[in-house]
Amino acid sequence: MSDIDTLAAEADRSIAAAPDLMALEALRVTLLGKQGSISALLKTLGAMPPEVRQVEGPRIHAAREGVTAALTARKDALEAAALDERLATETLDLTLPARETPRGAIHPVSQVMDELAEIFADMGFAVATGPEIEDDWHNFTALNMPETHPARAMHDTFYFPDQMAAGGGKMLLRTHTSPVQIRTMVSQGAPVRIIAPGRVYRSDSDATHTPMFHQIEGLVIDKGIHLGHLKWTLETFLKAFFERDDIVLRLRPSYFPFTEPSVEVDVGWEEVGGRRVLGGSGDDPGHGWMELLGSGMVNPRVLEFCGLDPAEWQGFAFGVGVDRLAMLKYAMDDLRAFFDGDLRWLRHYGFSALDVPTLSTGVGARA
Ligand code: PHE
Repeated sequence: MSDIDTLAAEADRSIAAAPDLMALEALRVTLLGKQGSISALLKTLGAMPPEVRQVEGPRIHAAREGVTAALTARKDALEAAALDERLATETLDLTLPARETPRGAIHPVSQVMDELAEIFADMGFAVATGPEIEDDWHNFTALNMPETHPARAMHDTFYFPDQMAAGGGKMLLRTHTSPVQIRTMVSQGAPVRIIAPGRVYRSDSDATHTPMFHQIEGLVIDKGIHLGHLKWTLETFLKAFFERDDIVLRLRPSYFPFTEPSVEVDVGWEEVGGRRVLGGSGDDPGHGWMELLGSGMVNPRVLEFCGLDPAEWQGFAFGVGVDRLAMLKYAMDDLRAFFDGDLRWLRHYGFSALDVPTLSTGVGARA
């Protein structure tokens, strides 16, 4: 019957000509809606004698399918065109200047770590790292602190009660950066000249102690290394870091299981405007000494644990609190505020991202 063909052909033409999605939807309703023309054709099937319906039925259904397919195809084409147009008009010019200045600030701990890396890089030190989740062997045993060693008690260690290291022994949060000494010697052998900055953990909390804090470890292993090298290195580092030539050190005998002899290092300070400022000899009038770091010559037992022959290799090591260095240099007095995440504190004490420490501009460059 030609009225079906005419209807289908006309529908195809108007679908192809539909200018937008709204017109297309209106067309769908006139064709396939409850009162639509194709729907009306379908309704005629019921009144047909069976032999006519057998012929007309498939033709009407085919027309409806054809129209449905044409509607879908046109809809896809219109949507694709709309998307193309949006993509062409909604461009973003990344070369335009920003409307707001960036507000982020570099945390003093990050800034100080960058300063330290810069100073030590100049002395030929590489930066090494190790895991914060350590095993008992690297954190204690290989540092000459066997299971029963009393020094272990001083570390207030956080243990993982349900986890064991691959070779046996407990897992823990490292209590100092010294296990990086072990990892570096075991993996690289000798000679070694590294610093290892990072987070350490001890179960301790008050105005000057937080359960997480930062240390930087130094390790030098070579032939003929002696205490003089240690003293020169620390002096050079502290003068560069505090940007003062009158930094005076006092070396005191001390004890760490992993160094022998062990040396505690004090720095001289004077009072300026009610505040302790580093500089001068602690023995001068109006001056005093403050304890700054632990160090010493690497204990031969530690070298042996790492597979190095102490007859051939010697070295020194030191460990400093990074947060403490930041507090001293930038006059901050509450350690807990470091880790409160208070934006006002960070805006006040933080550094500009552009303030990259370099030796030529001064590692403490600050407007
Ligand atoms: N690891 C020691 C501590 O945390 C510091 C130290 C490092 C001492 C290296 C000597 C040598 O107290």
